Amino acid sequence: MTQVIEKIDNEIYNLEKVFIPTMGALHDGHISLINDAKKLNLPIVVSIFVNPKQFNDKNDFKNYPRNIINDIEILTSLQVDFVLTPKSDYVYERNKYSKISSGHIGTLFEGKFRPGHFDGVLTVVKRLFEIVNPNTAIFGAKDAQQLFLIKQMVKDHNLKITILEGSTVREKNGLAMSSRNQLLSNTGKEQAKKIYQNLLYVSKLFLKTKDFSFAIEEGLEKYKASNLKVDYLEVVNKETFNIPDENTKELLFLTAAYVDNIRLIDNLKVEL
Ligand code: PAJ
Repeated sequence: MTQVIEKIDNEIYNLEKVFIPTMGALHDGHISLINDAKKLNLPIVVSIFVNPKQFNDKNDFKNYPRNIINDIEILTSLQVDFVLTPKSDYVYERNKYSKISSGHIGTLFEGKFRPGHFDGVLTVVKRLFEIVNPNTAIFGAKDAQQLFLIKQMVKDHNLKITILEGSTVREKNGLAMSSRNQLLSNTGKEQAKKIYQNLLYVSKLFLKTKDFSFAIEEGLEKYKASNLKVDYLEVVNKETFNIPDENTKELLFLTAAYVDNIRLIDNLKVEL
């Protein structure tokens, strides 16, 4: 039986459990994290909270898709144990939460175009961890920088929480699933597949030439040719989010681009 709750009581707090924070408008990407959680054979808590502190743009917050009735139906059919739908006053109760800084890496890539975004993400995730008290929490590889910064926060604050990574789920045409895809027109969805195609192109070009700068320049050209506005296309060492060097084992190509004025992000891992 799924219980929909607004607060965590002592009994739930003390359970050994796995936690999946979300902002709702659930899709197959979220569902795959829940299926990963099921393998752990622990009670599952999924939270739905559209966190105002991580939106640097008020309109983006206002227009973010919300679909709570449908979300609860999905979570009930998946037999998730607890759906936490907290009110903002509870999450941000005075003196009960602290603002977390995402540091230098939080100002790069996504952070450069969305100032304060990752501080908002880390602040809410830390607070939700305190409210829920999970043993394990699962986040998607789709939001690679977010995942990196959450792992770093867990380490820095010595939190006793295992962070697991769920693979990116894609549409048949390769477009990474996202709640924001609901805001795209049908032609927009077709356009948007070019983001992933471009990541594949850049990674293949890199593997052939071993030259990141060249591969990325060509990728930026391809964006231009397909009339997509790009915020960034970059490469990092997946483990450190620094510029790759000769010791790098896994690269991550990161990108953000606009389709129909909707900002979409994606990334692709390349093992060396
Ligand atoms: P949201 O965008 O709802 O995503 C919730 C979780 O689902 C995140 O861990 C995200 O990486 C994962 N996810 C999204 N799309 C995915 C896909 N296509 N494949 C696999 N996993 C995917 O990320 C957030 O919410 C918020 O920032 C949050 C962490 C909840 C803090 O407010």
